[in-house]
Amino acid sequence: MSRNAEDLARQIRDRAGAAPVRFGLVLGSGLGHLAEAVDGVAIDYAELPGFPHAGVSGHNPKLVIGDLEGVRVAVFGGRSHYYESGRGDAMRLPLEVLAALGAEALILTNAAGSMRADIPPGELMLLNDHINFSGLNPLIGEPTDRRFVPMADAYDPGLRKALQSAAAHEGLNLEQGVYAWYSGPSFETPAEIRAIRTLGADAVGMSTVPEVILARFLGLRVAAISTITNMAAGMSDEKISHEHTKAMAPLGAGKLERILRRFLKNL
Ligand code: HPA
Repeated sequence: MSRNAEDLARQIRDRAGAAPVRFGLVLGSGLGHLAEAVDGVAIDYAELPGFPHAGVSGHNPKLVIGDLEGVRVAVFGGRSHYYESGRGDAMRLPLEVLAALGAEALILTNAAGSMRADIPPGELMLLNDHINFSGLNPLIGEPTDRRFVPMADAYDPGLRKALQSAAAHEGLNLEQGVYAWYSGPSFETPAEIRAIRTLGADAVGMSTVPEVILARFLGLRVAAISTITNMAAGMSDEKISHEHTKAMAPLGAGKLERILRRFLKNL
């Protein structure tokens, strides 16, 4: 853990209280309003030196520390993507701070395109694995042997089971699938989507994978859920755009909130 992360964690505890955080929650495009459901203290990323200047519209760059369904959580209203800075490790400091606040696990959310007809826009997908289609890695340059992070079961089987039972409890369908990370910011071509499908991915997006690698590096358990906003390029006549992503994300956001609340209630 860096000195910087320990210092920031101390500052955050001074403002939000010393009780340890149990879960971190990263909100994807169009899902930022979930931060408002938390009863707690909001801190702008701008007040936390080294936190990303989350500049993507549809994100809400605040860290909210507080209670959701009686569980202490840290909600990251915005994330930095590789395509914003060319840095794959832009979320390293925020995740180090999360670990320093005592978190045991991280739940990531994102907006994604689907390659499965049975997971159409408006549905959610629970990630059970990923394909790093970008070939980039946020641990490049990490000098210690800790960089050799095992990635089997990176998407924690216990958390997945708990999220699936939370969904079932709510009467909601939650398919599992493989997420492919495409660097963006341009969307994929139809040929790339055919390639990614052939390789075994079910959904595609521009985030999450670097954070999963960093979180496993930091010893956090991880789960991730995609809100499907569109069928991937070439799979439907619909035009893909960031505007469309932001407009469609709220369709899944209500279900996502129900699942997360139930998951926390059941802990
Ligand atoms: N591709 C990449 N990222 C995305 C998509 C997509 O189709 N939809 C939402 N985020």
